Amino acid sequence: MAHQPRIVAFLCNWCAYAAADRAGQQRLEMPQSLLTVRVMCTGRVEPGFVLQAFREGADGVLVAGCHPGECHYLDGNLRAAARGAVLARALEQAGIEPERFRMTWAGANEAERLAGEVREMTAALRALGPLDYPRRALDGAGLDAALAGAGPGAAAALPPRAPGKPRVAFYWNASCGGCEEAVVDLGDGFAGLLERVEVVLWPVATDHKRADVEALPDGGIDLAFVNGAVRLDEQEEWARLLRRKARTVVAFGACAHLGGVVGLGNLSEPEALLEAAYRAPPSVSNPEAPLPGGPVRADGATLSLPVLLPRTLTLADVVSVDYTIPGCPPSPAVVQAALDALLGDAPPPRGAVLAPDVSLCEDCPRKGSRPERIELHALRRLATSAVDPELCFLAQGLVCMGPATRQGCQPGCVEAGMPCRGCFGPLDGVRDGGAAMLSGFASLLGGADPAALGAAVPDPAGTFWRYSYAAALLPRRVRPAGPAGEGA
Ligand code: FES
Repeated sequence: MAHQPRIVAFLCNWCAYAAADRAGQQRLEMPQSLLTVRVMCTGRVEPGFVLQAFREGADGVLVAGCHPGECHYLDGNLRAAARGAVLARALEQAGIEPERFRMTWAGANEAERLAGEVREMTAALRALGPLDYPRRALDGAGLDAALAGAGPGAAAALPPRAPGKPRVAFYWNASCGGCEEAVVDLGDGFAGLLERVEVVLWPVATDHKRADVEALPDGGIDLAFVNGAVRLDEQEEWARLLRRKARTVVAFGACAHLGGVVGLGNLSEPEALLEAAYRAPPSVSNPEAPLPGGPVRADGATLSLPVLLPRTLTLADVVSVDYTIPGCPPSPAVVQAALDALLGDAPPPRGAVLAPDVSLCEDCPRKGSRPERIELHALRRLATSAVDPELCFLAQGLVCMGPATRQGCQPGCVEAGMPCRGCFGPLDGVRDGGAAMLSGFASLLGGADPAALGAAVPDPAGTFWRYSYAAALLPRRVRPAGPAGEGA
């Protein structure tokens, strides 16, 4: 039987939904697998809705609304078109074929037009085949179930902790080392910390080995601060080991929290990453071309290098995480407040992100210059623009992630004349801060053709998900091939 593509269609109540209704009354041919979602206006369709539909198994997503000039909410459809244009480019970067996402207009009387669009899309999707989009390579909840004794729920089963100072571990996975600096940046607070705790692991500063950690009893570490994303099998093993040994695991910094910049590696196939890093001339001298995962001869011995995982994972993709300290890097104030809270008598509720649940805009020195309404007629880029030192970045046509980003950086980049890049991640309750900001920014696009402006936004995946692509609702489709791709 021919593949019946699953299409999720977001239809405006006033026009496209009425057209679909009429198509049904007229018994026009429509695929059975069309799932319609009625919205009051296409302006209500957030990019996150589209991404979630793909994530839930849609082969294609259709958004249909009133013709330009006929939107019942003035320009909701034009906002939707601008958002759709930016999103379409991000989908392409994620390896989703353009035929899988379509926006169209259909009046209430245009049943045949809408049915034709659906038939055409169905044929295109049938030719493409099912969207072989994998769910996240590793699911934190699923892994937790497999990890007996791991996770916050298991903490009660641990033996009572031994008396003495809290035992603390710091560990680093795929990161730049900035999070290690963030601990030292505590200044006097760092000296105070060393008086309050016993450090049982900190590879950057102490000589503890893996065997030392393995020799500890389960629950023998009170607090494990783990920074960095999980990109190698060795890092995944460490994450599991620390989860087993620690009563409390803290995702420390943007890479552990959301994948960080390391997560942008998910935009490339693992083989392409290895090729660029280990073999591509002219910057690499690697005549024998050994790759991670394979044996390497060194000083007469044979070593094996860690295996590159198919994709970058956040710490929560691998083990359950009790708390998160966000930021790239977390600021000293945020780290100090988190330490005081975690080492105090009344720790925060499990699952908390330990930074203010308020958007960065509320703390921005340019806040007073933000106009009541922003409508952009042109895009600007920081590297090629003269930037007004006082005016809100968004009002200047520059992407600033401030509205969708949590406070806590104090606000570092903005004070230095840089728009926010989103490293502190979204506020509580926001599933995908990148999708939220894509939506917010594209909704500011105006002029004669907002969709054309949206289509010109450079590198939407790298812009809106710079620090969070590994945690995005729609990771890139990575097709396994060779050792680096096993297990995708
Ligand atoms: Fe139909 Fe806005 S009311 S698209």
